[in-house]
Amino acid sequence: MSTYIFITGKHPELSIAELKARYPKHKVWVKGDDFMVMDISEKINQSEFNHLGGSVKAAEFIKEVKKEALIEVLADILNSHYQDMKLDYGLSLYGTSEKQLRPVLLKLKKKLKADGIKSRFINNQFKNISSAQYKSISKKGIELIAVSNKGRFTVGHTVAVQDIDAYSKRDYEKPFRSMQMGMMPPKLAQILINLVGVKGKIWDPFCGSGTLIMEGLLMGRQMIGSDINQKHIEGAKKNTAWLKKEFGTSSSEELLVHDATTPFKESFDAIAFEGDLGVPHNQSIKSDQLKVIAEGLDELYIEFFKNLKKIKKKVPVVAALPFFKLRNGRDEELKCIRQIEKMGFKKTLHLKYSREGQAVGRSVYRFMY
Ligand SMILES: C[S@@+](CC[C@H](N)C(=O)[O-])C[C@H]1O[C@@H](n2cnc3c(N)ncnc32)[C@H](O)[C@@H]1O
Repeated sequence: MSTYIFITGKHPELSIAELKARYPKHKVWVKGDDFMVMDISEKINQSEFNHLGGSVKAAEFIKEVKKEALIEVLADILNSHYQDMKLDYGLSLYGTSEKQLRPVLLKLKKKLKADGIKSRFINNQFKNISSAQYKSISKKGIELIAVSNKGRFTVGHTVAVQDIDAYSKRDYEKPFRSMQMGMMPPKLAQILINLVGVKGKIWDPFCGSGTLIMEGLLMGRQMIGSDINQKHIEGAKKNTAWLKKEFGTSSSEELLVHDATTPFKESFDAIAFEGDLGVPHNQSIKSDQLKVIAEGLDELYIEFFKNLKKIKKKVPVVAALPFFKLRNGRDEELKCIRQIEKMGFKKTLHLKYSREGQAVGRSVYRFMY
């Protein structure tokens, strides 16, 4: 087992659920608002980390220290990395205010100077190290992370960061995109896949442009995608061909036109999807419109789950379904969830994923039956 500090993203609870599902043999040591320290049997390097949509950084555990000993311990670690040249380093603090960085960095610099070490910290304006900064420093220096918890610090050195450029390339440069249909961010697709928790082939019955299919292929999964709209399937085929050329993967996929409310003959081991959201995310919805949209979606998902029930093989179902942000600040969930539960699908997870300014968010559910 190795101990890692994971820095969680904008949806910490989803990030934590993803980590627990991807690394089922884990032991959680501590978790805070923006981090989790856990033991896992897998090794985290950049290529493994690239499969985690919910975390922004991972650091290998070095030591746990009392607050008062932090500077000394950080200086000792940097000392052991010093090789007679100038040492470039970065430091990020989590679980505490970023404002603490200034005094810590200045004291650390003083201590290193007193120890005879030529060093330079690269924290711009005393801010935590960004992914881009880490990429440049990782070649010749080191980033240390310290997370604060109840008067103690857990210290580690960064081993991987979120590859923002690769996500953005997959999101924006794929040949088929449709804002009207709505597309899921690749990071959310990875989270859904990890939440499935079982190995084997994944079916996305509402695959649209194929975001989840693409991420599954990169994660080494066999994938099957279907959609009622022929144009979307053609688009998804273009996107997966582009992905293979640009990113390379040895996994394979099948893509076919199919109405998810009717029997599906293909075999699969798990289901993961973002369903029809009813309206584009950024469009605000009047309450009379909402009633009609929600009723249509309730009907669609009830029919889909009813149909699923007929299939003998019982598989985990991870679904991102829409919820609507009302003008009075309340969130309106789809009513079909209760009925789906009554059909025998046991809800084992429900967490929200939404972006500021968008009228439609996604409720992430995992059902077992
Ligand atoms: C929000 S989009 C999914 C987008 C997809 N996750 C992506 O990132 O491209 C919902 C999709 O559900 C499809 N859909 C709607 N009703 C369907 C049904 N009855 N059976 C299968 N697909 C359906 C739509 O054609 C659309 O492509």
